[in-house]
Amino acid sequence: MIQFENVTATYADDVGIFDLSFHIEKGEMVFLMGPTGAGKSTVLRTIYKDILLNDGSLYIDGQDITDMRSRKIPYYRRKIGMIFQDFRLIEDRTVFENVALPLNILGLPNKEIKSKVSEILEKVGLDSVTKMRPSQLSGGEQQRVSIARALVKDPVVILADEPTGNLDPNVSDEILDLLELATNNGTSVLMSTHNFPLIRPRKKRYIELSDGRLVQK
Ligand SMILES: Nc1ncnc2c1ncn2[C@@H]1O[C@H](COP(=O)(O)OP(=O)(O)O)[C@@H](O)[C@H]1O
Ligand SMILES: [Mg+2]
Repeated sequence: MIQFENVTATYADDVGIFDLSFHIEKGEMVFLMGPTGAGKSTVLRTIYKDILLNDGSLYIDGQDITDMRSRKIPYYRRKIGMIFQDFRLIEDRTVFENVALPLNILGLPNKEIKSKVSEILEKVGLDSVTKMRPSQLSGGEQQRVSIARALVKDPVVILADEPTGNLDPNVSDEILDLLELATNNGTSVLMSTHNFPLIRPRKKRYIELSDGRLVQK
């Protein structure tokens, strides 16, 4: 589902990610580990087509996205769900409206949007706060909204960039439960974190980066 082949993507001569090769299966959940500056966000940004590759090849869902034309990128991004540490919700919209946004952009009929969004909000345990604004919610609830917003598109891949960075340990664990649940539908989840104690009990595969390179084990 996600395949890196000797990928190098740099901001400057010796800053970025270098010669990365790894593979993530359909429906697999994999963690991207490493300290600040190791290149975790850069890996996720290459998949989101936010930065260009200098070298190597990148395949997502069987598609070679290495040299994708920029006009095709918005369409490609429909199948990628992004989740960030700082949630990135729209403050003057309700929970429901935040989650409905990707479907509004796709131009789905209102009735379909309503049923899909309600279903997802129930799945993430937010059906009682659909009319609230993000600022009225706890951090954990806000991250659930951003997960719902990613899930509502039925993405093939979810990229979560330190999604638990602002959350307490027990809330973080609930967020991981939700991301793991998403894999049941065949969605692949790649989540970056520098919190090894958080992910260790899950016994999932993890990819470790240091200075933009894979740590060999
Ligand atoms: N926009 C940018 N411009 C220049 N250098 C950057 C940029 N973003 C990240 N870097 C550098 O690239 C390296 C990897 O960063 P990043 O992928 O953000 O690491 P992580 O997410 O693991 O903390 C770091 O040395 C960082 O300073
Ligand atoms: Mg980062």
